[in-house]
Amino acid sequence: MRVRKFVIAVLALAPALAIAAPAHKIAPVHKAAAPKPAEPSPFTPGMTARDLTPLMAKPYAPLAFAYPVAPAGLPRPDPTATFTATGADPAMKLTMRQIGDPNNPPDWFPKEHAPLPELAKHGRAPHVPACILCHLPNGNGHPESASISGLTANYMIEQMHAFRDGERTNIRAPAMIEMALELSDKDIRDVAAYFTHVPRQQQKWIRVVETSRAPATHVGAGGVRFFDKGGETVPVPPDMIYEVAESEEVELRNFHFGFADYVPVGSLAKGRIVSLGNHGQMRSCASCHGEDFRGHDDAPRLAGRGAYYLIRQLADMKSGVRKGAALGKMKDIIPHLSDADILNVSAFMASRAP
Ligand code: HEC
Ligand code: HEC
Repeated sequence: MRVRKFVIAVLALAPALAIAAPAHKIAPVHKAAAPKPAEPSPFTPGMTARDLTPLMAKPYAPLAFAYPVAPAGLPRPDPTATFTATGADPAMKLTMRQIGDPNNPPDWFPKEHAPLPELAKHGRAPHVPACILCHLPNGNGHPESASISGLTANYMIEQMHAFRDGERTNIRAPAMIEMALELSDKDIRDVAAYFTHVPRQQQKWIRVVETSRAPATHVGAGGVRFFDKGGETVPVPPDMIYEVAESEEVELRNFHFGFADYVPVGSLAKGRIVSLGNHGQMRSCASCHGEDFRGHDDAPRLAGRGAYYLIRQLADMKSGVRKGAALGKMKDIIPHLSDADILNVSAFMASRAP
């Protein structure tokens, strides 16, 4: 069943892939000996994010703002300076080095959530950092990663296979690929038992502001956009969204602070029309993603997720960077979405209650 669905998706995609090929050339590093139904994974276990980075596809140019990377040469914070997140136990003082420890990142508010599975909290050195390092204990993550709260175990397992098999290769993917080459389906089921059940009110993470001008911002550490200190504003053109940290404390991994999406005027109404099927061109998003876009069956939650993540996925699907089983049923939808539709529908989804 799983294999059949996969083969059908690959066959249906063949022409699109041929066109997209030059945009995402991935050197076949390894040819698997065992015959597989699809192309062998271009990756081998043990590869690190650093090895994988040069093999990734370039960002989709018209929407490149949604693939944030930290600018080179940022001043590094003193690794020995200590911090306590606002609202946390004052006895909990951590150095910047501890806050960035891949196998023991901070959990400032342990009483606010169910006990974390071992893998989510500590990962498994050397190839698997703790899931909460990037996705945070509420599963919502920063714009350069993804919100995984509320996703089903089956969907998460499918995506791990997709990362492992070379079906998701954008510039934000290397860390996930390194992990996916190491983790079993059982590992993912164990962590999903936690992230799937993050309560809905804790999945709320994005404040959407529809506006012609936004506060001025800059991209800083971790590829996160922060507010500038001054009171200047900048225009929000129709082809741009600013996804900005609500506080500099996101750098401390304080999960009490989420993000604001400054979206262009008119984008929410236009995005709603796209979601209804773009004037009858295609099925509505809700027909698969469920009532209020809260996820249904194999189609994940879209409501309340960050616009940058959603834009990246739709742009990757359009350019052939997210493909095969990871494109799945979206193959009939994507040809109907212009770049403007992608931006508008992502803004609209971000504005919905999770
Ligand atoms: C070093 C940072 C980092 C860590 C640690 C990390 N992730 Fe991720 N994860 C990411 C990024 C970045 C993406 C988004 C990639 C993209 O843009 O396509 C992502 C995406 C995902 C997705 C896909 C979400 C979707 O809706 O398709 C899943 C599932 C996931 N991560 C699960 C995990 C699990 C489980 C762990 C712990 C074992 C983990 N991640 C640890 C950075 C990380
Ligand atoms: C025919 C059913 C169907 C329809 C209609 C549909 N989707 Fe999907 N969508 C899916 C499935 C299934 C997936 C998961 C694909 C996979 O397995 O990787 C998905 C994945 C996605 C993703 C990636 C999510 C993630 O977590 O990475 C986005 C974004 C998305 N869809 C947006 C939309 C939007 C916007 C619309 C309406 C314009 C829409 N979809 C309509 C079935 C559908």
